[in-house]
Amino acid sequence: MKNIVLIGFMGVGKGSIAREFIKISDYIAVDTDDLIESMQNRKIKEIFEDEGEAYFRGLEKNVGMWLENSVKNTLISTGGGFYKVENLKNIGTIVFLDSPFDSILKRIKKHPNATQKLKKRPLLKDLKKAKALYDIRRPEYLALADIVINVEKKSASECAEELLNKVGSNV
Ligand code: S3P
Repeated sequence: MKNIVLIGFMGVGKGSIAREFIKISDYIAVDTDDLIESMQNRKIKEIFEDEGEAYFRGLEKNVGMWLENSVKNTLISTGGGFYKVENLKNIGTIVFLDSPFDSILKRIKKHPNATQKLKKRPLLKDLKKAKALYDIRRPEYLALADIVINVEKKSASECAEELLNKVGSNV
């Protein structure tokens, strides 16, 4: 089994889909933000505030190297900017979770912890800037993807099923 790497914009549902996927497959799941938070013993929001974004991107790069060299048979969910690590393609099959920006916002807002979900993401503070970032990133995500899953209007478990069917021939 090759690693599967979920990429996509903040709030698109990478973590939720990963949690559903491990229920229906033999994969173990890890999340790059969780790895960074546990290594640093502080939240992403604090890392951004204390050290700045460039420092965080350096941590993502280190995680990317470790994933390539040491991790196998794993579903890896990533932070929305992780796709920029240079070795992304060496880590595993790249799966882009695609959704329009407005649907992503709706998804976050309907969550019981919506305020928390928005607060923990420094790059979602200013929605105009977040939309501009989305517009830059979407074509970049698409260009890197081996597989694209349109997640709009689908539950996390439906997306996980689709992922399992699509990766079947790719891993
Ligand atoms: C970021 C996305 C976040 C987190 C950090 C930066 C980004 O992860 O890594 O706040 O650059 O898009 P999620 O995609 O899980 O929100």
